[in-house]
Amino acid sequence: MLRVGLTGGIGCGKTTVSLLFSRFDIPIIDADDISHSLVTRGSPALQDIQNTFGKDVLLENGELNRPVLKTKIFSNSEQKKRLEAILHPRIFQEISIQLQSFSAPYCIVSIPLLFETESQALVNRILVVDCDIKTQIERVQKRDNLSIECIQAIISHQVSAEFRKANADDILDNSQNNAALAEQIKKLHNFYLSLSC
Ligand SMILES: Nc1ncnc2c1ncn2[C@@H]1O[C@H](COP(=O)(O)OP(=O)(O)OP(=O)(O)O)[C@@H](O)[C@H]1O
Ligand SMILES: [Mg+2]
Repeated sequence: MLRVGLTGGIGCGKTTVSLLFSRFDIPIIDADDISHSLVTRGSPALQDIQNTFGKDVLLENGELNRPVLKTKIFSNSEQKKRLEAILHPRIFQEISIQLQSFSAPYCIVSIPLLFETESQALVNRILVVDCDIKTQIERVQKRDNLSIECIQAIISHQVSAEFRKANADDILDNSQNNAALAEQIKKLHNFYLSLSC
């Protein structure tokens, strides 16, 4: 099965793109979804997070207090690395398991930090979704209600859009509306089907 790695900067449209591919009954493996499912109440990963970052990263009901954890790792690269050491091996193990479980001409493996984690070898092709930075910031602001400074800080911790595009096999421009994106995806879907024959 052809593995297409989907990546892109924060808010560029990875989740939207995955949804559009899933309309063609293409299996989607999503590193963000896996990451969320790994830290449910009582999970071993959440226990490790508590042991590393202290009890205050948990809410009273035992669930992860995401804002508190985010504050702890935000602009502290050592703490960020500790969290990644807990989560990344588990995420990639689960991606491998899911890759074995699908049978389809191709699948989409959405990994926001594909380049940052040097995981390119996990996939056969790299698909980058990109949009101009003004649109990117506006969409994240609207969705997450974050300050421009915070969004810019997140973007500055990721590889640049230029690096991503230079290392992509295929690029989706998501600067326009959803219909324009869907049109590009339809073409890519047919292209990936032709590659998988
Ligand atoms: N073509 C578009 N037109 C208008 N809004 C869009 C378009 N594409 C995406 N959006 C909106 O922009 C926001 C970011 O898109 P999306 O969540 O798909 O990005 P993402 O890359 O998955 O973000 P993250 O990195 O945070 O996971 C969402 O609110 C989404 O609905
Ligand atoms: Mg997303």
